[in-house]
Amino acid sequence: DLSPIDKAKFVAAKQASLYVEDGMKVGLGTGSTAAWLVKCLGERVQDDGLKIKGVPTSSRTAALAREVGIEVMSLDEARWLDITIDGADEYDGNLNLIKGGGGALLQEKIVATASDQMVVIADASKSVETLGGFPLPLEVVPFGWQTTKTLIEETLIGMDVLGRKVSLRMNGEAPFYTDEGNHILDLHLNRIGNARQLSLVVNQIPGVVENGLFIDICDIVVIGHGDGRVEMRD
Ligand code: A5P
Repeated sequence: DLSPIDKAKFVAAKQASLYVEDGMKVGLGTGSTAAWLVKCLGERVQDDGLKIKGVPTSSRTAALAREVGIEVMSLDEARWLDITIDGADEYDGNLNLIKGGGGALLQEKIVATASDQMVVIADASKSVETLGGFPLPLEVVPFGWQTTKTLIEETLIGMDVLGRKVSLRMNGEAPFYTDEGNHILDLHLNRIGNARQLSLVVNQIPGVVENGLFIDICDIVVIGHGDGRVEMRD
């Protein structure tokens, strides 16, 4: 028996898994919602003989995909994908997203951008009018990260945001490391007035590798509810 939140994630994942067809190369997202998707696809592979190749967006997802019997390939082997299905931390009415709560935003953005279609699966609590309530993750190289942090703070002064606190993501006592060997700075902005502009501006700062704003990348959001209902936004 699933809790309402897990039920919501599961029904969204289950519905989205039906977009996947034989022969497809599929980007596999990261996080607790995407984990449901990987399990659903694994079942179709095992039980129905679905033939797909999965490109994982993290080492965690790669391990899970192998565990459930999905054939895994790298993005460089696949080159281009039919579909990517992934979770999100926030989505707005224009299907723009904040991602990276799980720290996998860089691979997620590369994989989603290399896909004909990106489908987001999420529960209804992640729907927002304006992005920014969830801290925006920036992946930064470890070299000189404190200088990069200062540059980000200075840049934020000119931006249409409500909060400006920047914090280094930790893993217990030590800084968190991404799969690409970088750190994450979380930007506590509360409200992002112009997400497109912010995304462009922060990516100009030396040391910033990528940010968690996904602008014009997502095509469909499949929204799950705790009572088992599923809605589509496209
Ligand atoms: C991973 O880096 C994130 O982008 C996830 O997609 C996001 O954090 C959603 O995770 P949950 O499905 O666990 O909420």
